[in-house]
This record gives sequence, C-alpha cells and structure tokens, in this order.
Amino acid sequence: MKNADITSIYKELDDQYFMPAFSRNMAIVRGKGSIVWDGTGKEYIDCVAGIAVCSTGHCHPAVVKAICDQAHELIHCSNLYYVPHQGELAKKIVEITGLKKAFFSNSGAEASDGALKLARVRTKKKKFVAFTHGFHGRTIGSLAVTHKPAAREPFEPLGLPTTFIEYGNLDALKKAVDDDTAAIIVEPIQGEAGVIIPRDSFLEGIREICDATGTLMIVDEVQTGMGRTGKWLAIQHTKIEPDIVTLAKGIASGFPMGALVARDGLEFTKGEHGSTFAGGPVACAASLATISVLEPLLPEIVRKGERFRQGLAKYHPRVRGLMIGITVGDKCPDVQKECAEHGVIVNCAADGNLRLVPPLVISDAEIDCVVKVIDGALGKVML
Ligand SMILES: Cc1ncc(COP(=O)(O)O)c(C=O)c1O
Repeated sequence: MKNADITSIYKELDDQYFMPAFSRNMAIVRGKGSIVWDGTGKEYIDCVAGIAVCSTGHCHPAVVKAICDQAHELIHCSNLYYVPHQGELAKKIVEITGLKKAFFSNSGAEASDGALKLARVRTKKKKFVAFTHGFHGRTIGSLAVTHKPAAREPFEPLGLPTTFIEYGNLDALKKAVDDDTAAIIVEPIQGEAGVIIPRDSFLEGIREICDATGTLMIVDEVQTGMGRTGKWLAIQHTKIEPDIVTLAKGIASGFPMGALVARDGLEFTKGEHGSTFAGGPVACAASLATISVLEPLLPEIVRKGERFRQGLAKYHPRVRGLMIGITVGDKCPDVQKECAEHGVIVNCAADGNLRLVPPLVISDAEIDCVVKVIDGALGKVML
C-alpha cells in the first residue's frame, strides 16, 4: 500500500464507524523528536505536539524504553496492590511541585474532577468559582467549571454550582466567594482560550481571597505544567502556594496520565476516590522517564521561548516559555493551513488565537524554521 492511500482509508473508517465529535482532515502516522509525518509521508515540524502533550518530543528513546521495559514486566495489576513505579513517581511529583501528596488519574479532566471532589470532601462546602474562557475538561464534573458555552450548555444542568467570574477581575471575584465556596479553580495561563497570560497580581489576589475566606485555590496546570513555561509549574513563576495542583498532558510524553497534588492536610481517605487504571505501572514508568528527560532541559525553555518572541515580535506574541499565543482573528484557520502547506503544524485555539506549544526538545534551527514559515503565512493571509 502506498503512503498516499493511508489518509483516505483512515477517513473512510472514521466517517463510517467513529462518532463525528472531532473535525479533522489529516492523519499523523509517525513522529520523532519535533518532527511528524502525515499519511502521505510529508514531514512537518510539530508545534501542536498533541496539544502540549509530547513534551519530550515524539517517541523519545528513553520514554520508549521505559514503556517497553515495563510492558515486558507487568502492564497492569490494579490499585488493590502496591504498583511498580507509582510511589517513586508520587515522590518525584511531590518534590517538583513542592506539595505534599499526589494521586494519579488517566487524563486532565479526571484530575480536575478529583481536585473538585477533594475540595468538597475536605472543606464540606458546596460551591465553586471559575473563570470566563477557562477550560478544565469534558467530564460532567470538570465541565461544570469549564466556561465555554458551546461545550457546557448542551449538557446542563451540570452538578456543581459554579459562578463564572471574568478572568482578571478581582473585585468581582471577592463578591462571588462566600462561606459555602469550596474552591476557586484557575489556570495560571489560559491555554484553550489562546494563551492568555494574567498579571501576577491577579493570581496573588486569588490566594489572598482564598486565605481570607478559607476557600481552597486549585491551580489547573494541565496545560501549563511539567516544564512548559520553563518551570515545573507556571505558578512557580510567582511566590503563590496553591492548595491543589492538577497535571496531565506533558506528564508522561503522551502516555495517558494525569495527577492531582495537594498541600499538607489535604488528602483522600480510604474509599473516597479511586480508579482502575490510574497510576498504572506503564504510565508511571513513562512519567518517570519523561521527568528525567525534561529536568536538564528546563533552564533552556525560557530562552527558546524568547527566540520565538524575537522572531515573531512584529505580531506581538504572548510568550511564557514554550507556550505562545498570537492574536490572528477570523483568518486563523487560513494561517494554520498555510503553515501546514509549508511543513509546520500549528493550531487555532479560541477566538482566533494561534497557539504554539511545541515539544520542549525543539531545536534552535527548528524554531527559526517555524518562525520563517509563520511569518510567511501571516504575511500572506493577513495582507
Ligand atoms: C487547562 C486544562 N485543564 C484540563 C484539560 C482537560 O484535559 P484532558 O483533555 O486530558 O481531559 C485541558 C485540556 O485541554 C486543559 O487545557
């Protein structure tokens, strides 16, 4: 079978047998480092990276080896038993986040659900406050604190009473929090909204409101965490100490995994939470390998982000490490298409914001190539 046939075969099966919840027209069949190949064999620099997932690049040899070695030994055993690598990973996650205890999940949405459950069960309060344009997942619980009307409205009523406050508006936030608010959940940089970076004083203000009212601060680092912004957590660019942090996406280089990590005194007790698959041996092995690969890369991330910033300066990019947003507007899909034609994959987040979240291993030469292609695409489409 020729490469050229693969996409159409995938499409045919997809059209007939897969629920049409995604909009797609391209197959990605192979990846190595920052490069992926489509169904026709065409090569691209991948600035989507599975939406901030493939942090160590595609198929990093250390991650592949960790997965294969563990798969030969034991793929699954259940959380009824001590699980190989799980404790070691929990220790590592606690160390890098500066929090006290971890609990694993299979996705970001599940990590959000777990964080909301933990907040409710420990505070005995019912309500939540979240922010406009915020995204925390698509399970019923995480959707309840996700703002996007198109994602939530068809499924209302959602179980958790949630008040949405304008992202950045501390005065409104103060008025919204009351004695029955269990937690405020916030992204330190809004990813799905298009890389919206708030002032540090906004995040500091949330902490102050939480302290004054006995409300928990849940920081959703699903997209911003695991080194994406040059520190393990984006909140670590500030002095804020969150109560609960959620992680997923880049935590295991694409092997499905998430985590919630909480400060001293906040933990699930027996029977309060659980999962068949979460924190399985292969996922934990993949995550430990991921962390080992990322550790020496962290000091480079901010510099790489600045290289993007300089190259794209005339488009006023919003840059925090390797999380980059550019306001493009209605023509964003055209820019995305033009970039793909020239061998660079980018994606449009909400409101016409071009988003770049490349693998953290991306090289300077690759960054320069991406910058050239985006510059060309924006120049052509926006003229
Ligand atoms: C900030 C944030 N939280 C939670 C999620 C949900 O993660 P998942 O898709 O793994 O359920 C996402 C996904 O985009 C996200 O960006």
